[in-house]
Amino acid sequence: MTSDAKIIVALDYATADAASALVARLDPQLCKLKVGKELFTAAGPAWVEHLVGQGYDVFLDLKFHDIPNTVAQACRAAAALGVWMVNVHALGGRAMMTAAREALENTPNRPKLVAVTVLTSMSANELADLGINQAPHQLVRRLARLAHSCHLDGVVCSGQEAKMLRQEQGPDFCLVTPGIRPAGVGKDDQNRVMTPTEALRAGANYLVIGRPITQSLDPLQALQAIRQEIANNGDSK
Ligand code: C5P
Repeated sequence: MTSDAKIIVALDYATADAASALVARLDPQLCKLKVGKELFTAAGPAWVEHLVGQGYDVFLDLKFHDIPNTVAQACRAAAALGVWMVNVHALGGRAMMTAAREALENTPNRPKLVAVTVLTSMSANELADLGINQAPHQLVRRLARLAHSCHLDGVVCSGQEAKMLRQEQGPDFCLVTPGIRPAGVGKDDQNRVMTPTEALRAGANYLVIGRPITQSLDPLQALQAIRQEIANNGDSK
């Protein structure tokens, strides 16, 4: 069953035990969970299935980028784990994204398929090193269009890009935004941050939040406080 929670807690942990201690204090009705490369490599697919079995919507954040057939098969394997969302790199191109989408078409409980456009760690200089002479936001725009034209469900983007993409891609394109910091909380190593309310108003559908919840002394309370902040500002949680 899919919950209507908009907050995706990033399980950035080195071991399943460490992540389990947090998960035991959360609730599938209040948040979704994101498993990335570190935890997936350490804990494996059985642990992802275990989270799904506990009723969590799981975003498997492995950012597939390979030849079309390999990515298609990887997406199919992810779907077999029962995850709610899976992602690929838009830079893998049209054939790769189309193959991924087609591979998921007839899977039971088809996961949402979203694309990473430009990693937020990439600067204009780094793009130039790759022979790409475009500002990052221009490339984000281009790759979001490409992902949409391949009929993907949406993209991962920064809150700053959400407004532009919402305007250009319409109401049904899913925008997943990391770099979220509740008002009054430190930025950690994130530079361009937005509060949950700002990101939702800019057009985000889902908010990826890690340390403000995972490093909190009381993660459930931190999650509830963010949900309350969103509700107080008139948005649904
Ligand atoms: O702890 P924090 O809230 O900064 O965690 C954000 C999560 O979102 C991390 O799992 C990070 O890898 C991920 N992420 C990000 N920026 C992107 C894509 C993903 O911070 N552009």
